Amino acid sequence: MKAAVLKAFGQPLEVEDMPEPPAGTGEVLVEMAAAGVLAYSAEVYSGARGYLLELPIVPGPGGFGRIAAIGPDATKLAVGDWVYCDPTVRSRDDVLSPDIILQGLTAGSEGGMRLQRRHHDGSYAERLRTPTENVFRIEAIERSSAKYWCRIGALLVPFGGLLAIDVKAGETLVVNGATGRFGSAAVELAAAMGAGCIIATGRNESVLEALASRYGSRVRPVVMTGEETADRAAILEAAPGPVDCVFDILPPAASPAQVRAAVLTVRQNGRVVLMGGVGMAGGPGLELPYPWIMRNNVAIRGQWMYPREAIPRLIRLVQSGLIRLDNGETTCFALQDINAAVAHAAANSGPFSNTVIEM
Ligand SMILES: NC(=O)c1ccc[n+]([C@@H]2O[C@H](COP(=O)([O-])OP(=O)(O)OC[C@H]3O[C@@H](n4cnc5c(N)ncnc54)[C@H](OP(=O)(O)O)[C@@H]3O)[C@@H](O)[C@H]2O)c1
Repeated sequence: MKAAVLKAFGQPLEVEDMPEPPAGTGEVLVEMAAAGVLAYSAEVYSGARGYLLELPIVPGPGGFGRIAAIGPDATKLAVGDWVYCDPTVRSRDDVLSPDIILQGLTAGSEGGMRLQRRHHDGSYAERLRTPTENVFRIEAIERSSAKYWCRIGALLVPFGGLLAIDVKAGETLVVNGATGRFGSAAVELAAAMGAGCIIATGRNESVLEALASRYGSRVRPVVMTGEETADRAAILEAAPGPVDCVFDILPPAASPAQVRAAVLTVRQNGRVVLMGGVGMAGGPGLELPYPWIMRNNVAIRGQWMYPREAIPRLIRLVQSGLIRLDNGETTCFALQDINAAVAHAAANSGPFSNTVIEM
């Protein structure tokens, strides 16, 4: 089979022939049709992000394809089924605290390195071997529409956060960092899930306006200035009533003050989920006031990725028409042109832009 291989950090990927991986017990082999390219892939392949990858490796975080072979213990899958391949692979020998890798992207931790030795290669290949529990059937689709389905990857991350705080119909939600790829997807999902009002924050006014025009009058854009007190007041002023939940997905470059500006708007008994990368590049902590959390019964939780159950639910939201996959521009590249795809993804990182490899 053909696959794109990263042989050394900082080198271009090389597309070459390699043997098809055999599927063992508890695994499936998928004939890949399409796989998304992350905007920051170039930073991963240059080594700048410090992601844990044992080289050489076939990168590529999940995608869509058809089952080519199943292990002896699968009971419902059949060869030819169309499936989503979720890159979030969990170790099976510790139900409470599994090691988690993102197949084809990062081992995440030293423990994950052991898991990565088996589920080593990712989806930029004609065939992907992955654990059986990592594939999710979708209805039969035309091969040409697999590229649109790749958008599921961007939707699943915020879906995990919105489920974590149990966003309910009619509630007011603040999406802090709404102009980014995941934040804009959170706005779209919250609208589909029935939120009554979505306060979308960001500095980029044109993207905020685009969100309001795409997802309707329930979206209220609030332009952030970086001044914590003023930004908090602006969010509260835009809200039609108490803020029920806050969803934060700001990147490592953002400051704790930018997070606090939103978090401290939540009402008594409100819920907050932190999904961003603030602090990952060092710097001060979040420093939320203990008495405020305690006296107001505020629930604050983190969320990395999403539970497996979120995937069939999101697939149903798509199949019901509540989430549209052809929302934005999708640019496709052949596997042979993987390096051009990585450069394109980096240069077109906006919320309504998708870069896909078609196999
Ligand atoms: N928890 C998880 O499972 C998970 C999974 C994947 C990624 N993440 C995190 O999610 C973060 C966001 O990812 P993304 O792909 O949505 O990023 P993105 O597209 O780059 O969006 C980030 C947004 O943050 C805003 N921002 C505010 N302050 C900023 C600052 N000082 N510097 C740069 N941007 C700033 C920017 O909007 P404005 O310019 O309009 O303010 C930008 O649009 C990642 O950095 C990562 O840490 C979490």
